[in-house]
Amino acid sequence: MFKKFLSFFIPVNLVRKDSEVSQQLEVTLNNGKLVLDSKNTNYSYGSLQRILRKGLHYIGFERIREFKNILVLGVAGGSVIKTLADDIAYKGQITGVEIDPKIIEIANKYFELDKVPNCNIVICDAFEFVLKSKETYDLIIIDIFKDTIMPGFLFEDFFINKVNQILNVNGFILFNTMTLTKKDFERNQEYKTHFNSNYSIRLYPKVEEHNELFTIKKLR
Ligand SMILES: C[S@@+](CC[C@H](N)C(=O)[O-])C[C@H]1O[C@@H](n2cnc3c(N)ncnc32)[C@H](O)[C@@H]1O
Repeated sequence: MFKKFLSFFIPVNLVRKDSEVSQQLEVTLNNGKLVLDSKNTNYSYGSLQRILRKGLHYIGFERIREFKNILVLGVAGGSVIKTLADDIAYKGQITGVEIDPKIIEIANKYFELDKVPNCNIVICDAFEFVLKSKETYDLIIIDIFKDTIMPGFLFEDFFINKVNQILNVNGFILFNTMTLTKKDFERNQEYKTHFNSNYSIRLYPKVEEHNELFTIKKLR
């Protein structure tokens, strides 16, 4: 209780864990709310949750409620999964794919991710998961970072085409990107050219200071 009170004045660190994948993970109380951070950036809840919530809002909460299954690549503390469950009252199936088992331990212990009934978490590299997937999805949320770094595979044809294959017609991709340098902005402009007229692609600039979001709809 005192820690919560204190957190309205200064952030209160509750746990710090080393992780082979993410280097360092921290759970902090900030203004009475828990957030999960990596060494240099916010990983879950806080601004990250606001960013993805805006993306879901662009797609439309009503529309999302009708979707049968959703794939979340990059789970961390599971804030987007909580948004789906609590704010959107999404009742379909959610599959979350996360490479770092330590993060899922934190997500369950501090953010009660394991209490979301319609959610199944797979500990796996998202690249491999997508490669092997036989399932198709109505919404694929791509939110993959190692600290502030976005792995190169996310922007390569091979992965993009595999993701497109497992996306249902009339389904959406929501892709969160970080834009810190001129190169990152150019990379995002180039990303658009990977989609042909079967897709409707929108780029939402400056969703928060350093993030651009893509929504991509599969038309046919
Ligand atoms: C910004 S966090 C995700 C936040 C989450 N979507 C949420 O709603 O709270 C990025 C996550 O991507 C994970 N990650 C990084 N590389 C990955 C990969 N190749 N496959 C799966 N997850 C990966 C990191 O471990 C980290 O948990």
